[in-house]
Amino acid sequence: MSAPPDTVLDVTPEETAAIRAAVLAADLDGLGPGRSLARPEDAADLTAFLTDPRVTDAIYDLPRPFTHENVGRWIVESEALRQAGRRLLILTRDETGRIAGYSCVSVWPERSAAELAGALRADRQSGGQGGAGALHSFGWIFQALKVRMMCLTAAVDNVRSAKLIDAAGFVRMGAREVVRPDGTTRTSLYWEVTAAQWRARWG
Ligand SMILES: CC(C)(COP(=O)(O)OP(=O)(O)OC[C@H]1O[C@@H](n2cnc3c(N)ncnc32)[C@H](O)[C@@H]1OP(=O)(O)O)[C@@H](O)C(=O)NCCC(=O)NCCS
Repeated sequence: MSAPPDTVLDVTPEETAAIRAAVLAADLDGLGPGRSLARPEDAADLTAFLTDPRVTDAIYDLPRPFTHENVGRWIVESEALRQAGRRLLILTRDETGRIAGYSCVSVWPERSAAELAGALRADRQSGGQGGAGALHSFGWIFQALKVRMMCLTAAVDNVRSAKLIDAAGFVRMGAREVVRPDGTTRTSLYWEVTAAQWRARWG
């Protein structure tokens, strides 16, 4: 499951509380059109979306196998974590209402840190949307959720992710063993960036 950054920041109770409040108050319109928090009634559409291996094969922390029950439980769990200021599970629907992508933002308020995972529908991949969308999302996470650190992981053979994460200015920090929900592990590339590094690069 997603894990907080290796680098540990000093975080006051006031900062922790402000991040929790920011997660609860987050306005998803700032991420772009078609965004909404995943709700239980999205379970069937989200299950169908996740079932495409081109969308999900590279992502380790999803509720496999992709049954309606498992995905529905993930949505409910994510809403409970959102209420605690710890997760945002966000869907993007296109103009026809089909799911075009998902993002899962994990937040550790007491560490002033967040991580982003996500995927685009296969027909939207490799056309520049992911890179542009991820860059915008990283900036939004720093600004809207008020965290001071982000970390990211990617499978060692996930060339597109590695390119877009490097291009965004994240700093490679070697490898990390990530733990799948079934307890098995995967070796991943690991990056961090601080809010100060982000602002120095992107303003
Ligand atoms: C990862 C993902 C979000 C990237 O979005 P995307 O729209 O496909 O990627 P982009 O078109 O913006 O390309 C990102 C980079 O990869 C490069 N790229 C695109 N397609 C490529 C391909 N088939 N092979 C190698 N590089 C490729 C692009 O040139 C770009 O690099 P550049 O900035 O140096 O030019 C998307 O591919 C996806 O959802 N993949 C499946 C799920 C996944 O891997 N999620 C991330 C887990 S960490």
